[in-house]
Amino acid sequence: MNASTAMWDKFANLSYGYSMTPPPFLSVRDLRVEFAARQLLFHRSRPPTRAVNNVSFSIPTGQTLGLVGESGAGKSTVARAILRLTQIQGGQIFIDGRNVSSLSGAQLTEYRRQVQVVFQDPYSSLNPSHVIGEIVGELITRHRGVRPGAARDEMVAGLLQRVGLGRFVMDRLPDELSGGQRQRVAIARALAVEPRLIVCDEPTSALDVSIQSQIINLLADLQASAGLTYLFITHNLAMARHISHNLAVMYLGYLVESGPTERVFAHPAHPYTEMLLASSPVPDPARQRERAAARSRISRSTNPEIAIAVTSCPFANRCPLVMDVCRKTMPAQTEVSGGGSVRCHAHATGLTFT
Ligand SMILES: Nc1ncnc2c1ncn2[C@@H]1O[C@H](COP(=O)(O)OP(=O)(O)OP(=O)(O)O)[C@@H](O)[C@H]1O
Ligand code: SF4
Ligand SMILES: [Mg+2]
Repeated sequence: MNASTAMWDKFANLSYGYSMTPPPFLSVRDLRVEFAARQLLFHRSRPPTRAVNNVSFSIPTGQTLGLVGESGAGKSTVARAILRLTQIQGGQIFIDGRNVSSLSGAQLTEYRRQVQVVFQDPYSSLNPSHVIGEIVGELITRHRGVRPGAARDEMVAGLLQRVGLGRFVMDRLPDELSGGQRQRVAIARALAVEPRLIVCDEPTSALDVSIQSQIINLLADLQASAGLTYLFITHNLAMARHISHNLAVMYLGYLVESGPTERVFAHPAHPYTEMLLASSPVPDPARQRERAAARSRISRSTNPEIAIAVTSCPFANRCPLVMDVCRKTMPAQTEVSGGGSVRCHAHATGLTFT
């Protein structure tokens, strides 16, 4: 680990408020991802979409970072950048203190083993014409060199057992399984290569509510038993709260707030986080009324998708606390009491939302 990595990780740990935090397994620094706009005939050339703007965070080993934000915020693009499935235009990604942003060849293959993904729709990632024993076994052969046969079958059965599936599943095709069973197979397949980080991109949103909690509990159990690190992307704030040690909130490509999950829920520091929490149902009617009132204070008169200058706060068009400075200067990332950081001029001046 070089000196600047160590310094940044020290800041990341401090900012997450842990005195005894394990070292970061994943650190993302100043990540920037742009997509070239398609040029239309007879139209002026269009600027690229900045899907991710200078995003930085870290995840301590064996912990979960919940990544939340509205549709189009850039969550999946962050995930795809970490998985090396999309080109990055700036920034660095460190695993265990090692810069993996420009790996190639055998080193990239080894990196891809360590970092697995579970998507929302397992069906699209499971070969429909292969039985489950082959789908999981094929990865064991590729990454661990175990040929098809009795020994590999035992390994597959063991993995299926870890995710709560019986041996009978080995002879089934993906479309002979329920959605929950398919997602368990997707998790077993990820585990087959003994990963250290699993990126979960809305892994339960296609499942019935009753099955969602089973999958979440399975992921939590696997984390406890195997020391896995998770980046967990979801729209479901209750789920994010349940599974995440820390939370990161994205808005239009920016990471606007991050910190220990309970601090973010109890004392959100960014007006957008407050708005997200206000739109999420809570069991306490009094708290629900408070949140509804908070929500009504947020101006929705402007289309949030309208691109605004990168020199202004990305939330300026919707923010009830907006000040002149917000339209002229991008707020810097500042520390929050209780852990984490926020990008907001009002926070720096002590203004609060409620
Ligand atoms: N391949 C692509 N080409 C062009 N633009 C893209 C591409 N992928 C994503 N984008 C754009 O980047 C932005 C972020 O998209 P992304 O899929 O990361 O959002 P998200 O937060 O995951 O949203 P959702 O919650 O709906 O999954 C969006 O404006 C999207 O249109
Ligand atoms: S910087 Fe200004 S516009 Fe942006 S969230 Fe803070 S107060 Fe609102
Ligand atoms: Mg997405």
